[in-house]
Amino acid sequence: MNTACVILAAGLGKRMRSRLAKVLHPVLDRPMLLYPVELALRLRCRPVVVVAGHQEETVRQLLGGRFGAGVRVVRQWPPRGTGHALLMARPALPRTGRLLVLCGDVPLLTAAEVARLRRGARDTAVAFLTARLSDPSGYGRVVRDGRGEVLRIVEHADAGAAERRIDEINTGVYLLDLAFVHSTIGALRAGNAQREFYLTDLVAEARKRSRAVAGIEVDDAELVLGINTRLELARAEEILSARLARALSRRGVTIHQPSSTRLCADVRAGRDSEILPGCQFSGRVRLGRGCRIGPYAVLRDCAVGDGASIGPFCVLEDCVVGKDARVGPFSRLRPGAVLGPEVHVGNFVEVKKSRLGRGSKANHLTYLGDAVVGRGVNVGAGTITCNYDGTHKHPTVIEDGAFIGSDTQLVAPVRVGKNAVIGAGTTVTNDVPAEALAVSRVKQTHVPGYARRRRR
Ligand code: UD1
Ligand code: CA
Repeated sequence: MNTACVILAAGLGKRMRSRLAKVLHPVLDRPMLLYPVELALRLRCRPVVVVAGHQEETVRQLLGGRFGAGVRVVRQWPPRGTGHALLMARPALPRTGRLLVLCGDVPLLTAAEVARLRRGARDTAVAFLTARLSDPSGYGRVVRDGRGEVLRIVEHADAGAAERRIDEINTGVYLLDLAFVHSTIGALRAGNAQREFYLTDLVAEARKRSRAVAGIEVDDAELVLGINTRLELARAEEILSARLARALSRRGVTIHQPSSTRLCADVRAGRDSEILPGCQFSGRVRLGRGCRIGPYAVLRDCAVGDGASIGPFCVLEDCVVGKDARVGPFSRLRPGAVLGPEVHVGNFVEVKKSRLGRGSKANHLTYLGDAVVGRGVNVGAGTITCNYDGTHKHPTVIEDGAFIGSDTQLVAPVRVGKNAVIGAGTTVTNDVPAEALAVSRVKQTHVPGYARRRRR
C-alpha cells in the first residue's frame, strides 16, 4: 500500500530562543529538517509534503535545492496547531492509502521505529508511537481504558491532575489511514486551552467512529522525541555522531575516543583507518584505507587517499590528499588544494588552489597559492608564492624536480623550469629555465673587525 508522508515544520520553536526557525538549526552540520525528510524519501513515501510557516522561504530554498520536485512544501500561516498544519497539507495528499506524519524536529528517528509503527498499525485509523517518561510534563498524555485501549490523547495544557500523572506520552509520530484523515480533519475544532487545532484529537475522533487506534510504545524515547531546546540539540548531535562512529567501526575503522570526535552524516572511511581523538568532520568526507587522522584535525569536504596521514591540528577544507601523503602537524589545506601521492606538507604550511605532484615536499612555513607544482619538487622552508597583486591572482608553475631554496619569494605569474635550483633568499620575478640556478640576493660582504670596534 502506498504511504504518503507529511512533515510538520511550521512552528518557530520558542524554546530554542532563536531568530532561526528550529527546523533550520544545524544538527551535525545539516539542518534538522533534512533528517526526517531524508528518512521519508528513503522509506519511499510518496508524496513527501513539508508544512512550512516560519521562514517558509528558507525552507523552500533548502528543500528545492536538495530534492527539487521530490519534496513538496505547503504553507501554513499563521501556525494554528498541528491539526491545522495537516489540513493545509490535505490538498497535496492522495485520497487513500497510509499517511506517515512526522515532525521536522526529530533528527534521531530511524526506519526501525517507523517499521515498528507499521507493524502495530494493522487496520487502524490512527497508530502512533508512545514513550514512557519519568518527567512527562509538556507532552500530550495517552489516556487508555481499563483494558489498555487508547481512548484519546490529552495535551498537557488541557489535562487534569490525574491525567498529568500519566507517564505515557505521545511522541508525535503517526501512521494514519488517509481516507479517515480526509473525512475527519476538516471537523477538528480549536476549543481547547491553546486555541489550536490538535492533530491529536483524531484519536478521540477515530474512537467515536468505532475505528481502531493503536498507541505503540518505543524502548528509547530519546530517539523519537523532538528537539525543543539547544541542550537537546547538543545531545542529539552526540547520539548521531556516536551512531556514525558505530557504523564506521563495524566497517573496520578505529575511532579512538569517539566521544571527543564529531563526525558528519556524509562520511565514509576504508578499512584500518584510524581517527584519533578530537577530530571534527563536516560536509562530505571520504577517507581511503589505512588513513590516520588527527588528533584534533578539522576536515570539511575532503577526500584522503589510502595510507595518507593527516597529523595533529590540521585544518582541511575542500581539498584532495593523495595516497600515502603526509600532512601536518599544523597544516592548512584550503579550497582547491590537491596533493598527489606521497606528498609531504608540514607545519605552518598553507596550500590554496594548488596542485602538488607525486612526492613533492613543502615541509615548513610556506604559502602555496594558485600554484602548479610538478613531481619530486622540494619547496624549502619559508617559501612564498606572491600570487596576489592587490587586484588579481596569478599562477606559479614549478616543474618536476625543481629545488626551491628556503625563504624564496615567487612573484607570480612565474615559471620555474624542470630541475631548476633557486638559491635561498631569492626573489624570483622572471621565469627560470630548466636546469638553471637562479639567485637574486646581494653578494655577501665582510667588514673585518667591525664587531670589535663597536664594543669599544
Ligand atoms: C505535539 C503533540 C503532543 C506531543 C508532542 C510531541 C499536538 C496537539 N500535540 O505537541 O501530543 O506529545 O507534539 O513532541 O499535536 N507545527 C506546525 N504547525 C503548527 C504547530 C506545530 O507545523 O501550527 C509543527 C512544529 O513545527 C513541530 C511539530 O508540529 O515540528 C510539533 O509542534 P510542537 O509545538 O513542538 O508540539 P506540541 O504542539 O507541543
Ligand atoms: Ca504547540
